[in-house]
Order: sequence, then structure tokens, then C-alpha cells
Amino acid sequence: MTTKQDSWGTRVGLILAMAGNAVGLGNFLRFPVQAVQNGGGAFIIPYLVCFLLMGIPLLWIEWSMGRFGGSRGHHSTPFILDSFDKRRFWKYLGVFGIFTNIVVAAYYCYIESWTMSWVYHTVAGTFDGKTQTEVAAFFGKYVDLDKSFTGIPYEPIVFYILCLALNTYILSRGLSGGIERVAKLVMPMLVAFGIFLAFKGITLQAGQEGALFSGTLGLNFLWEPQFDSLGNLNVWLAAAGQIFFTLSVGMGTVHCYAAYVKKKDDIALNAMTAGWTNEFVEVLLGASILIPISVGYLGIDKVIELTKSGGLGLGFKTMPYLFEQWGDVIGTMAGVAFFGLLFFAGITSSLAMGSPWIAFMKDEFRFSEKSASWTFGLVVLALGLPTVFLFNYGVFDEYDYWVGTVALVVFALTEIILFSWVFGLNKGWKEITSGADIKVPLIYRPIIQWVTPIMLIIVFVGSLITPEGGDWTASFQSMMHGDGWILSDGSILAKLQNQDIYHSLQAAIAAGDEEKISFLNDKKLYVNGSRIFLTIVYGLICLMVYKAYKNRKNKKTEEVEA
Ligand code: TRP
Repeated sequence: MTTKQDSWGTRVGLILAMAGNAVGLGNFLRFPVQAVQNGGGAFIIPYLVCFLLMGIPLLWIEWSMGRFGGSRGHHSTPFILDSFDKRRFWKYLGVFGIFTNIVVAAYYCYIESWTMSWVYHTVAGTFDGKTQTEVAAFFGKYVDLDKSFTGIPYEPIVFYILCLALNTYILSRGLSGGIERVAKLVMPMLVAFGIFLAFKGITLQAGQEGALFSGTLGLNFLWEPQFDSLGNLNVWLAAAGQIFFTLSVGMGTVHCYAAYVKKKDDIALNAMTAGWTNEFVEVLLGASILIPISVGYLGIDKVIELTKSGGLGLGFKTMPYLFEQWGDVIGTMAGVAFFGLLFFAGITSSLAMGSPWIAFMKDEFRFSEKSASWTFGLVVLALGLPTVFLFNYGVFDEYDYWVGTVALVVFALTEIILFSWVFGLNKGWKEITSGADIKVPLIYRPIIQWVTPIMLIIVFVGSLITPEGGDWTASFQSMMHGDGWILSDGSILAKLQNQDIYHSLQAAIAAGDEEKISFLNDKKLYVNGSRIFLTIVYGLICLMVYKAYKNRKNKKTEEVEA
């Protein structure tokens, strides 16, 4: 199909946009929390190994698949995958590369809208004089959609829609006029804000400005390697999950951006530059802000406790209070810098999530950039409102778990099998190295063919059947004794059966807590409902792909007849 070719303006622009895609809330909010939850220094070795053995290979594969598809006029994964093999089912697996993006965009934009609101409240002085508990309570009321306690009625919804509209508007300006421009403007600011905050974090002194410990305490906790965790598969699962999320691999976003790279241009070096930039930001800046500062004021134990219940909300619940300790001027500056940085990091990622859907509508249904962007905004709004309204019922977490975590691994497995086994590594390797500005180390041939797929299978099977307490040995023994496998509530199989809700329900019934019982029953309803909803959405995109495929075939026969 011959559509007018859009492409990147400059190489710097491409790399910044790709780095902006990868650098996101994952770097500043998810990474620190994952690292703390998985034992600090215990996390870092599995994390780096996963980067080298899964992240880098997948980046090369996705970039080269994207350029390959792009040169054939395809910019989203259903038809990119389709161009690698003639079997028809690939395009329906390729639907993941659109589906994941719009679903993640739905809840991701919600967090992004919190950052806008937190910048506003920092400047407006809402957090002034609040204790840490009060700041946390503010967050609780916010996501509870408490009518107008912030002064703006329905504020969370107002900011959510504002945030989506802004994204949509930028997307409607096109690749080089919108996304690339924003990336060039925002990425340097993000790094500058990050350096300022990391500097403040690292130089935090015990006994000054109310800090109990120095910033180095948190850093040591994160960086002192602990080798005894290397045998713990759960830490590996978490590390792999973080690598996927932060590099945006297994999502179809990289394919789409890379599809606008010209056929003869380099991808090997570009992929490395963008990937390593993300790691630089994550490991140097992402690790030096949230943890050193909160550990400095609250101590390690308290921070570990907060991450258990806090997840992505941790930064919103603690940082405003901690910044206050630095006095009015620096405190406000730090708050604006932190939530501003999160906003910049978030928006360059959510823009990337918009591009596969837009490319699909343009390629297949001849939508203009503008109308394709507005359909994206509307679809994301429809997907996102349940996460906003039913946040406390776990709909947000449901999206994040199934689509933001599980789907990435499934799609990565799909594409690597297609690339190294069906298409074939010899041809694949040529794609990666063609036009390359660096020499791709030959060791990556066996890695791409064997190591990465095997690791992916281990990660997938491991997550499917994670045993209770992460204790594999005990579970094996129990199975040998005929007592069956004891699934952890967090394993995929247990999640499917809502084992976690069921367990809490039992506890609530035992305690006779009527209110909790009815809450949990509602929760079960919404959780199951959101799964059905997401499945339907996947099905609808499959239908669109089918329609597009028919259109193409008709066009071809028409051309032949003419
Ligand atoms: N990598 C981004 C981050 O670290 C998240 C992200 C970007 C993403 N593009 C995506 C997540 C597409 C899912 C789908 O925050």
C-alpha cells in the first residue's frame, strides 16, 4: 500500500523520541519500588543480566522488524509481523502491539495526570504544613474521587481529560512536527531536573533539615550487591518485568517508531543509544531520587513498608512532605522539578503509545493524522474511565497486571520465535546489521537464537506457576508427596481464579466484617468485568485487522484485473 511517507526529521530527534518512549514513569516510580521490594542490592544483578540478555536483543529485533515492515508500508505490528511469514495467524498475534499500547495508555495517562495535579498543588501550596500521613491521605482522597476536597470539583477527572487532550493534540501534529519536537524540548529538561534532584538526594545529610540519615544510606541499600538472591526466581521475574516495562519492549511501540526509519539507515547503533540512555536515566537518576530522599527521612524499614502498599503511588504519597523540609523556596522548586520531571517522562511515553494505533488507522483505513489521533483520544478515554472511576476496586491494577506485565512477555515470545526461528536468524541477522554504524558483537547471534527465548520461556512459566512464598523447593516437595502445587496468589494461574480476592473474602467472613465482604464481592465483579472488557477490546481489534486484510486482498485483485 502506498501511503505518503511520514518520517523522522533528524537522527537526534529519532533517538530522543525513542529514548523518550523508554524513559518514563517506569524509571522514576516503578524501578525504585521494584528494587526495594526485591531486596535492594539483591535486585541489581538480575536486573543488569536481564538488560544484557533480554533487553538488548529484543531492542535490536524490534527495531529491525520495524524498519523491515516500514519499508513495505506497514507501521503497526499486525502487518509488520505479517510481512515476516505467510501464515495468517501472525497478524492476530500482532494485535498485541496495538492493544497493549492503548490499554496501557489508558491507565498510564491517569498517573500522568496526577503529576500535573501535583505540580499544581505544589505551586498552590496545598501540601504546606501537611504531615506525611496527611499527604498520603490527600492521595487516598484524590483517587477516591472525593468530590471537591482539593478545591476543584472532580479534579482527578478534569486533569485526566486535560492530559489526554494534550496528548491527542500533540499526536495530531504528526511525527516530526509533534512527537519529535516535544521530545527535543522535554528530554534535556528532564535530565536537568533529574540531576538537580539526584544531587539533592545524594548530598542529603543526616541531622540537617530534619533528615535522620544521609542520602547515601538509601544508595548503599540499592547498590550493595547480594549474591544469595541469585537463586531466587521471583527476583528474576521482577527484574525481567522491569526491563520490559522500562525499555518498552514487547509492546509494539518500538516497532512503530522504527518503521519510520529509512530503509538504508542504521538501527544497530540507534537502538543501543536509546536503550543505554534509558538505563543511564533509570540507574543513575531514577535510583538517586525517590529512595535516597525517602530513606533519608523515613529510614529503610518504613520505606520498605510503604512500598508494600504504595506501588506507583509512593512518590505521590511521600515526596511532597519530604520536599517541605527543604524550606519554602527550595522545597517548592524541588516539588515542581520532581512532578514536572515525571510529567515530562510520562508524556514522551504516552505519545509513543499513541503511535501504533494512529499508524494502523492511517495505513489501513486511510485516516488523516488528525482524525486518527482523535480516535485514539476517544478510545483511550473509553478504556481509561473505568480505571479512574473504579481505581479502588483494582481495575487499574488489573490493566497493569494483564496488559502492562503479562502481555509484554507473551508478545516478546511471539516476536522472537517469529524472528529467529520462522524468519530465520540468518536473515534476521542481516536485517539487524544492514546499514549498521557499529559492529554488532557476534555473541549476540546465539543469544538471540537461544538464550533470550529460553529466558523468556522461563520467565513466562515461572510467572504462570509461581509457588506460595516464592518457595520452589517446598512446592516441588509438596507435589512429590502428592499434595499438589501450592500457587502463590500472585501467580498468573492463581490470579485467573481470583485466589487473592477469595482469600481476603475468607478472612473477612471469619471476622464478620460485613462492609469488607460486600466490598470484596463488588471488587470481584469489577475485576472480572474488566477482564471481559479487555478481551472484547482485543477481539474488536482483531476484527479490524481482518477487515484491513480483506481490503488489501480486494485491492490486489483489482490491481491484477486492471
Ligand atoms: N517505558 C515506559 C516507562 O518506563 C513505559 C512505556 C512506554 C510503555 N511505551 C509503552 C508501556 C508502551 C507499555 C506500552 O514508563
